[in-house]
Amino acid sequence: MLELYRRVARMPGGLARLEDEVSHGYVEGFLNSALERGMSFVAVSGDRVLGEIHACSPSLYCFAHVLGDLTIAVDLAAQGQGLGRALFARLMREVIDERPDIERVELIARETNVRAIRFYESLGFEREGLFRQRIRNLDGSVEADVPMAWIRDPERLAGKAPDEAAG
Ligand SMILES: CC(C)(COP(=O)(O)OP(=O)(O)OC[C@H]1O[C@@H](n2cnc3c(N)ncnc32)[C@H](O)[C@@H]1OP(=O)(O)O)[C@@H](O)C(=O)NCCC(=O)NCCS
Repeated sequence: MLELYRRVARMPGGLARLEDEVSHGYVEGFLNSALERGMSFVAVSGDRVLGEIHACSPSLYCFAHVLGDLTIAVDLAAQGQGLGRALFARLMREVIDERPDIERVELIARETNVRAIRFYESLGFEREGLFRQRIRNLDGSVEADVPMAWIRDPERLAGKAPDEAAG
């Protein structure tokens, strides 16, 4: 998992974290949070981790219905082959079918990660505004972060398969 996140962080424009900011502590932290208050799904091939998605709920009562801190990473060699969509659909199926207590799933994507934003929109996420000048790039420039959320809508979910309903 550590290697996966380090490799993906090496590619600029995706994850917020730089390669040397992906530590054992970071990976251990998000996995522990996912186990305690959220979920994590992993795609493996042999002993190699090809992709992972995780999210967790804040520990406060008032945010317990929110699933946040969502991060997804697919190995560069495996990108563009449907793995990211499959991982995300699996997480949303879990939310829709098994976690009726979750009413909101939220994530943040940098404004220039246009493909990722379109991908999230195709899964039912909507833009909720703009955090201006929030992200500093390696060349020193700054760009906006886009907060996005999926809201549980019982009418939209009624009668639809989970993947269909997520999108
Ligand atoms: C974003 C990411 C998880 C998508 O996973 P993937 O396995 O490559 O995606 P899929 O093949 O399932 O395709 C799903 C969508 O992702 C988008 N996508 C594909 N490659 C992408 C890339 N390198 N960067 C951003 N989005 C990408 C495509 O628009 C695609 O939509 P489409 O199916 O309508 O064409 C993956 O590319 C990745 O890990 N990127 C780097 C890290 C990152 O950007 N994480 C998200 C931070 S908000």
